[in-house]
Amino acid sequence: MPEILAAEGLSKHFGGLIAVNKVNLSIKKGEVAGIIGPNGSGKTTFFNLLSGFFPPTEGRMFLFGEEITHMPPYQRVMKGMVRTFQLVSVFNSMSVWENLVLSGIRFKERYTSARKFFFLSTKDDEIQENCLKALRLVGLESHASTLTSELSYGSKRLLEIGIALSLNPKLLLLDEPLSGLSDVEISEVLNLLHRIKSDLTLVIIEHKLSKIVNLVDRLCVMNEGHIICEGNPNHVLCDPSVRECYWGKEEIDQGLLQEKASA
Ligand SMILES: Nc1ncnc2c1ncn2[C@@H]1O[C@H](COP(=O)(O)OP(=O)(O)OP(=O)(O)O)[C@@H](O)[C@H]1O
Ligand SMILES: [Mg+2]
Repeated sequence: MPEILAAEGLSKHFGGLIAVNKVNLSIKKGEVAGIIGPNGSGKTTFFNLLSGFFPPTEGRMFLFGEEITHMPPYQRVMKGMVRTFQLVSVFNSMSVWENLVLSGIRFKERYTSARKFFFLSTKDDEIQENCLKALRLVGLESHASTLTSELSYGSKRLLEIGIALSLNPKLLLLDEPLSGLSDVEISEVLNLLHRIKSDLTLVIIEHKLSKIVNLVDRLCVMNEGHIICEGNPNHVLCDPSVRECYWGKEEIDQGLLQEKASA
């Protein structure tokens, strides 16, 4: 499988704190990769580097073979890499449909002036089509005109993923898509991820290990800014270094570890 995304020696320092430390990672086309690790291990910062929210202190990044180290976030989106956020990031004061259309407009190259943005955008057939497709995919079509503030947190999460999908990503980075959701909402998001995974490449940061172990092809474990272990999810979860870095942390899914240990 061809490589779609690569990080080479990627680091991020915040003053004296090294949040991401010389990380090398390669993501192959079509794979579903999971990134796990204790709180504060650098997972979100790594996504912030990949998506261009922070410049790296050192290292380089490549998307489809092209260097993107200094490319602004919107250009990375236009090249097919889209992300979601740890805390759901949608506009509460707008309707579901407006949230979708707004993102479509923002990332269209030709809408470079305010006039074009406001007067041409709502008539753009391609945007409308992409938004409708995404709305159906995430199962929110009956909520198109609902004010987003009235949605449950789980539906807001689906909307956020829908917004990402409406941008036709080739590579989707999801930062803790299951966090804060009820069991029913977790099932809805997982069903969605299982449905879309054949059409794109996914990288998922998640703490709920037992929920993603059957979704991901590969697990990468971060600890103190480093990737300490990667590979087959079942092997990674039994790795002594992984168990050690989680030892005593309450976010570890004890059930899964016990299950693995007794297997
Ligand atoms: N903008 C920032 N300025 C200063 N320090 C930061 C900043 N962002 C993150 N950090 C620090 O970098 C380290 C890694 O944080 P990060 O959010 O990447 O961890 P994480 O693995 O995503 O944790 P969690 O699982 O809790 O979401 C932490 O010590 C955090 O306090
Ligand atoms: Mg995080």
